[in-house]
Amino acid sequence: MTLAALAGEEEVCTRCPLYRNATQAVPGEGPRGARVMVVGEQPGDLEDRSGRPFVGPAGRLLDKALTKVHLPREQCFVTNAVKHFKFEPRGKRRLHKRPDAGEIDACRWWLEQERALVAPGLVVAMGATAIRGVLGRAEPVSELRGRLLDLDQGAKFIATIHPSFLLRLKGEEDKQREWARFLSDLEIAAEWARAGDMPADAPGS
Ligand code: URA
Repeated sequence: MTLAALAGEEEVCTRCPLYRNATQAVPGEGPRGARVMVVGEQPGDLEDRSGRPFVGPAGRLLDKALTKVHLPREQCFVTNAVKHFKFEPRGKRRLHKRPDAGEIDACRWWLEQERALVAPGLVVAMGATAIRGVLGRAEPVSELRGRLLDLDQGAKFIATIHPSFLLRLKGEEDKQREWARFLSDLEIAAEWARAGDMPADAPGS
């Protein structure tokens, strides 16, 4: 199975009702064999139209953060816990609606398949939906974030906030503080990725 073939299967998915109103499924994107898999919530309006994950405002912030910690997005497999955009029509606009537990659990099937194909050593879950998608159960971001945890099959896991949380913050002080915390969570992922790139006898390994 290739990632392209998997994307083709995701496109015709009817495992939950979200396919009915979305433009298309948005598969994960990035190299097969990426050491780090970054998981978001679900495609937004722009992602739904373009068919690519994290190309809107939250994606730009994610790109900026990954660049800042020297973990380039191109080296990561970037995906979502839910592959179809869930929204509520409001006039000409489509307002984001959070996927429910049943939708996240139905879509775990695809997340697991992506994980099996890419086989990342570390999965970064951004926000509560991603945590449920990856772990298969609800856990608060605040309790998990900021440390490397063991996932199954020898892989590691780290949780952090979703970048759109940062976009919703109003106060400058809150924004700065939460941005710094987000970067420090991602820095742990970046350090893990760099450590794996070093030869076993390198200093500091
Ligand atoms: N938010 C997400 O969780 N995923 C995207 O692809 C875009 C915004």
